[in-house]
Amino acid sequence: MKKIKLLFGLVALVIFLVHCSKNTDVIANVATTATTTNPTGLTTNAGVNAAFTALPLAVTAPADNPQTAQKIALGKMLFWDPVLSGDNDIACGTCHHPSLGYSDALDLSIGVNGQGLGVTRHFLAGNTIPFVKRNSLSIINTAFNGIAANGTYNPATAPMFYDNRTQSLELQSLEPMKTMEEMRGTHIASTNLLDSVVLRLTKIPQYVQLFTDAFQVSNPITTQNLGRAIASYERTIIANNSPYDQYIRGNATAMTAAQVQGMSLFSSDGCIRCHSGPMFSDFALHVLSVPDNTKLPTDAGAGGTYAFRTPSLRNLSLTAPYMHSGIFTTVDAVIDFYDRVGGNRSQNPNVANNRLDANLRGINNNNKNAIIQFLNALNDGNFDRTIPTAVPSGLHPGGNL
Ligand code: HEC
Ligand code: HEC
Repeated sequence: MKKIKLLFGLVALVIFLVHCSKNTDVIANVATTATTTNPTGLTTNAGVNAAFTALPLAVTAPADNPQTAQKIALGKMLFWDPVLSGDNDIACGTCHHPSLGYSDALDLSIGVNGQGLGVTRHFLAGNTIPFVKRNSLSIINTAFNGIAANGTYNPATAPMFYDNRTQSLELQSLEPMKTMEEMRGTHIASTNLLDSVVLRLTKIPQYVQLFTDAFQVSNPITTQNLGRAIASYERTIIANNSPYDQYIRGNATAMTAAQVQGMSLFSSDGCIRCHSGPMFSDFALHVLSVPDNTKLPTDAGAGGTYAFRTPSLRNLSLTAPYMHSGIFTTVDAVIDFYDRVGGNRSQNPNVANNRLDANLRGINNNNKNAIIQFLNALNDGNFDRTIPTAVPSGLHPGGNL
């Protein structure tokens, strides 16, 4: 048995080295593992709990949109170019900024008619645009959305948004452009926005060149290819080497003893019932009764049921505030919330106690500190943070920051 596990560990290590040849930090970690981890260490880690698995080392793209350097380069320009917004004032990167964990540090995002980055972002004078309906989700590791505990996932049907309303990064990326308060504004109708953007791009020679290089067809600038290029870029924003991932892959010293204990409590206390698999999400909808944000009317979630998708718990240190309404500023406050709903006390007047998800039953905050220690092992700040210094439209990368 030990021999088989050791063999498996070695095979995993070889795959790991091959895939990570571009990342010097990772190679350094692997080298340490290879020289210091003894067979007992490997066996102990693998035996902790089969439910805990690391993120894959490589990303899978849909069959009709393979990763290429040209598409990734184009997608990065598009992600940062406010030319995709109705009034040329906001880009994807405005609300998904690398200095803020590819989120925006706000409870509810400010899109159209906003200025500034992060907590200093505000609406300009005379504003009539509402806040964006929800807290900005990070795009880090969204390449893995939908991943199951055994590591399988289908990027062509990957669930997106807090209510799983869109499938795949390709289709998701077109939605914010069409949404009035996010990127569209009030001057172009939702049904015309994508056509207007495509028309704008065809008039910018550098985009014509970049799209031609990326797709190698005549008339490459289409809505579909716009979504494909952005998705290809997003699949490069990965953070899959947290202390937790290193520990699961066999480096017994990557997590502290307190974190290892917290991991076990995370499981026995019931968090893992929903926060499962390598993304710490089952990607399913659950009724939790998270309080609404008073800046907006009530948010009834998926299909008006007050159900929301389990978010990933990776990189929490970078993505506060928390929940779809951004109502909690600390993980501490989130776990105190679980203590109340675990005792069958709904925290939202629109959700009756008997509608609370059965998986919440009995959850309490007794082991809060140990669980927080474990959650800290899920942070990995080693992701691509680069922003283009200029974008083909000549507008400011990231818009009105
Ligand atoms: C004004 C802020 C804002 C802008 C601009 C914006 N987003 Fe978002 N993004 C959000 C918010 C808020 C959510 C969560 C919305 C929800 O779940 O209903 C989100 C969700 C996402 C998700 C889903 C993540 C997941 O795990 O389900 C992806 C991917 C994403 N955005 C990418 C983009 C791309 C690509 C663009 C540009 C085309 C963009 N965003 C523009 C605020 C913004
Ligand atoms: C019944 C399924 C379920 C269980 C059990 C559960 N969660 Fe959650 N968790 C969710 C869902 C769904 C959300 C998003 C809710 C929303 O925004 O309305 C969430 C959100 C969170 C968030 C906020 C993440 C973010 O980025 O905003 C944290 C932190 C969290 N959970 C930690 C925990 C911990 C720790 C436990 C165990 C004490 C736990 N959860 C148990 C389903 C669950």
